[in-house]
Amino acid sequence: MSEESLYRARVSRGLCPKALDFVSSLRDDERILVDDILGTLAHVLGLKEAGVLTERECRKICRVLGGLLKQARSGELRLEGPYEDVHEFLENEVIKRVGIEIGGKIHSGRSRNDQVALAIRLRVRKELLKTCDLLLKTSEEFLHRAEGCVELPIPFYTHTQQAQIGSLGHYFLSKFDDLLEDYDRLVDCFKRVNLSPLGACAVAGTGLPIKREMAVKLLGFSGLVENSLSAVSSRGFMLEVASCLNILMSDLSRIAEDLILWSSNEFGFVTPSDEYASTSSVMPQKVNPCTLELMRARAAEVQGLCMGLFSILKGLVTGYNRDLQETKPILWKIFDLTQDSLAVLKGVISTLKINEERCLSVSRGSYALALDLAEGLVLEYGVPFRLAHRVIGQAVRKCAEEGRKLTELSVQELEEISEKAGQKLKLRPDFIKKYAEPLASLRFRKTRGSPNPAEARRMLLKRRGELKKRRRSLDEVQNKIDKSISELLRKAGVR
Ligand code: ARG
Repeated sequence: MSEESLYRARVSRGLCPKALDFVSSLRDDERILVDDILGTLAHVLGLKEAGVLTERECRKICRVLGGLLKQARSGELRLEGPYEDVHEFLENEVIKRVGIEIGGKIHSGRSRNDQVALAIRLRVRKELLKTCDLLLKTSEEFLHRAEGCVELPIPFYTHTQQAQIGSLGHYFLSKFDDLLEDYDRLVDCFKRVNLSPLGACAVAGTGLPIKREMAVKLLGFSGLVENSLSAVSSRGFMLEVASCLNILMSDLSRIAEDLILWSSNEFGFVTPSDEYASTSSVMPQKVNPCTLELMRARAAEVQGLCMGLFSILKGLVTGYNRDLQETKPILWKIFDLTQDSLAVLKGVISTLKINEERCLSVSRGSYALALDLAEGLVLEYGVPFRLAHRVIGQAVRKCAEEGRKLTELSVQELEEISEKAGQKLKLRPDFIKKYAEPLASLRFRKTRGSPNPAEARRMLLKRRGELKKRRRSLDEVQNKIDKSISELLRKAGVR
């Protein structure tokens, strides 16, 4: 038996270096170091309450853990040594400092299986709150930009063909709604993340009289993962969070794609600020939207990582399996990619240059005004829609063949076309103008949720309130957790 190893009484020798390196998660565990110490503090207080540790023993252990916490928070604590993971490292550190007589008691009634599940949940909770905070900040930028351009027309596309006239403000509002939906999904996960698995021990509970509810309270959880088997074995919460982040990244990627397309010379609606653009080593004229392109690629990466997570989990026998170790770095990577993308997107949006002239001129020349004209015929002259569709369709064909805009068509020409189509009409002289000016076209559409500037303003106002509501409750959740952790540290005599 290796002298230094706490765990290896059962076997005749230590792991060979290659095997140790292969099984060890020590490097990845940096990410849960602080959380593991906090979880251990709560466990130690529970052991005192259960009568496993005396007051004095508890105080001694907490003092050591407090020192380690401080070092971990400042980044001084190096996770190194011949350990398989942070849990073995931590127990060794405590025993090194207070001796096995006292330190040897901290793992009573606990296994690394509930310990790691606890640390993961604490860390996921933290990352989730950070992501939510970033997401609210980025969403707010979309509202802000919407405010300035509810009257700025751009074509909206279906099949990447100009479809109807919308506004850039309406576009930003739509993306805000997508992001808010993503936000609500993440918040919904939170209640399944914020549960304590501690006390499940290896897989089926412990004979020691530990009150599991105590750790719930001390660590600011909202409840227990009650079933001991689920507590150590289930990772549905990780799949759920990863999936929600995957959806969020897919939304960010679509925004990136829009802006990449719109910043091309051919579209020219927007220009990403120089701070967010790269240049070419060889073509002097180029300004490339590399930040957005990478966001699009990183969404693909997140999708792949998410798939990896599912693949690890789907075949696992119920209980703890070491495969679970590999799920952590995958989820951290997904969080990192998402948080970085959110922060960069916020910058891109807040500094985005909007080319108003270009948006206007493209809209003015666009046949995307055609449906408004057809609906004008329906509304003012009672033309059956199918006939109106035929008349305007022929009008557009004529314009396209002659290289003219719809606004250049005369009322007489439209009357001739409609007569040939079997619909004799006497149109007002300003009929085409009334519907075929982009801003008029926007105002013409009055249905709820349409890009009518008045409607966009109403939506904007409502969403300001929605955003505020969510900010308030996110801050409340964060404050509650902060308070629980300070209270835990106070009880453990750590400052
Ligand atoms: N490093 C391990 C993990 O991340 C901790 C749990 C180890 N448990 C065990 N029974 N070997 O999953």
